[in-house]
Amino acid sequence: MGTRFLPATKANPKEMLPIVDKPLIQYAAEEAIAAGMTELIFVTSSSKRAIEDHFDKNYEMETELEKRGKHELLSIVRSVVPAGVSCIYVRQPEALGLGHAVLCAKSVVGNEAFAVILADDLIDGGIDGDGANCLTQMAAVYENHGCSILGVEEVPQAETDKYGIVKASSLIDRVSKVDTIVEKPTPDVASSNLAVVGRYILTPRIFELLEHTGRGAGGEIQLTDAIARLLLEERVLAYRFLGKRHDCGSKLGYLQATVEYALRHPQLKDEFREYLQSILPSLKG
Ligand code: G1P
Repeated sequence: MGTRFLPATKANPKEMLPIVDKPLIQYAAEEAIAAGMTELIFVTSSSKRAIEDHFDKNYEMETELEKRGKHELLSIVRSVVPAGVSCIYVRQPEALGLGHAVLCAKSVVGNEAFAVILADDLIDGGIDGDGANCLTQMAAVYENHGCSILGVEEVPQAETDKYGIVKASSLIDRVSKVDTIVEKPTPDVASSNLAVVGRYILTPRIFELLEHTGRGAGGEIQLTDAIARLLLEERVLAYRFLGKRHDCGSKLGYLQATVEYALRHPQLKDEFREYLQSILPSLKG
């Protein structure tokens, strides 16, 4: 529900908050498309209609931009959904948790492996990574291993109660085998500080398990709990991705992402850098 951003998220979904000039949900869509996904399924709700509008054609705006000869802006508006990509919207009638949201997509996904992106975890594969975004890296791991893959990173021990935490035994490079997974354990009982951060590739068996998953942490139907059951039947791997994650569900993470993306924005970066340099002395004082 984006309560951490109220009142900004009172009438606007948190996924529509912009980082510089693009909403978070568009970064998520671009990551999926770059990873080769051609069907994007958005699990929305009655309060998230703006997401559908964002990926729809805006006929009035396009006509106006065309009339005024604003071709660059026109192409920005038109390229939100590239050719060959289809968007499907599924409604989650009640905020019953991430597991329930994923289950809402069951009949659309069918009997195939699929990826899940949580848009408020913005992962920049371009800073210290090799350029391939997080989901692209995970799709390559999936190609090799053919099982569910969880995107993970180490978090401060004090913050384990914000994440799904895995205990994993090391395999090769960045890939390890998940032994256990627990939703939001307190730091004193957490088995590690390896957290799942908003990227999953899952086999369709998860849907059947979700159907039998009761309410867990926070009274919600947790994807983590269904993955804990999946582990008993199938191999699940944790993948330490290359790249930098910004927790855009928190105000601080959101601001940090905004600064970093602005410093790389083709039209803004020079002026913005100068501005930051100009206020730096006052920050030191
Ligand atoms: C969700 C998941 C959690 C995961 C986190 C990543 O929690 O339930 O397992 O680690 O996303 O951001 P939420 O942030 O929705 O509370």
